[in-house]
Amino acid sequence: MDSNKFGNQGWTPDRIKDLTGKTYVITGTTSGTGFEATKILLSKGAKVVMLNRNNEKSKETLSALKLELGKSIAVINLQMNLAELASVKKAAEEVLKVAPQIDALICNAAIAQVPKQTSTIDGFESQLGVNHYGNFLLQALLYPRIEASKGRIVTVGSMGYNLGIKTIQFDDMNWDKNYGANEVYSQSKLAQIMCVYELQKRLEKAGKTEVKVYACHPGASRTSLIKTSGSLMTRFVWQLMKLSPMVQSAEKGSYPELMCATESNLDQKGFYGPTGRNYWTGPVGECKLEPHAKDRVVTKRLWEVSEKAIGLKWNI
Ligand SMILES: NC(=O)c1ccc[n+]([C@@H]2O[C@H](COP(=O)([O-])OP(=O)(O)OC[C@H]3O[C@@H](n4cnc5c(N)ncnc54)[C@H](OP(=O)(O)O)[C@@H]3O)[C@@H](O)[C@H]2O)c1
Repeated sequence: MDSNKFGNQGWTPDRIKDLTGKTYVITGTTSGTGFEATKILLSKGAKVVMLNRNNEKSKETLSALKLELGKSIAVINLQMNLAELASVKKAAEEVLKVAPQIDALICNAAIAQVPKQTSTIDGFESQLGVNHYGNFLLQALLYPRIEASKGRIVTVGSMGYNLGIKTIQFDDMNWDKNYGANEVYSQSKLAQIMCVYELQKRLEKAGKTEVKVYACHPGASRTSLIKTSGSLMTRFVWQLMKLSPMVQSAEKGSYPELMCATESNLDQKGFYGPTGRNYWTGPVGECKLEPHAKDRVVTKRLWEVSEKAIGLKWNI
């Protein structure tokens, strides 16, 4: 890529001005990049609505945030399990009650490397169900409020989008025939990113250019991701890797999503993350995106298949 437009250090949260009066909705804040992003948004004066599946962990998260930032922070936690469409619908209704304005919805939550094929309650393979369909439904339900707020949608993807097959396996969306933990994680992250670029096209066609939609990734960051859902071996290897300088802090991993949620005049056609070796660490900026992630024939079909799967058409 060209030299970093934010200088040698790349984008950092120092660029975020006072966020008083702004509201951010973010999924998966009980650990990792979601927790760090929430902390930084709150520290800049924003209101943050957190959507988390685990009530116990949510309580701990609220306590940790208040301990560090003070009791007066404007933070709300709502329960939402991305693995259940009904739970996503209920959470979205509650978000609409507590957030009259949404400056950005940050779809950060995900699971990864689930060793054996598992289904969500709605019958989706679990990584696709949580990472893709769950976040896709949440976006669709909150879209009218985001549009009214001239807000943004930020999807946290992964460089994994480029590690599996370079398309969507439409003839076997649940990977019944060839399930693989890595392959399906990659597929879910490719699906998430593809829907960002497809949504941009749909908004452009509808003349709704005030809503911005971004795709980013956190590089390789020290979080709980593999620990939560990976196999014993994957967890072991990842634990060792996390000790090496090839992996960065969760805080640094949160910068790309924060940049996409707050930086003005950021070109939404880009793909943002750390720009160092393999895009694992390094200054945050624009990363090269392989063309298959924007293959319009595939993104269009994926959108239609996804709307059918969640049983809802986006109101664009
Ligand atoms: N870490 C990396 O190196 C890396 C690399 C590439 C991409 N990413 C992406 O970065 C994002 C953040 O992940 P992370 O690394 O920070 O991992 P993390 O520490 O495991 O955080 C993931 C968050 O998502 C939540 N979550 C998982 N399943 C959920 C569900 N069904 N419903 C609602 N929330 C759910 C988790 O909640 P619980 O606490 O309840 O589990 C947690 O709060 C993900 O999109 C991931 O794909 C990470």
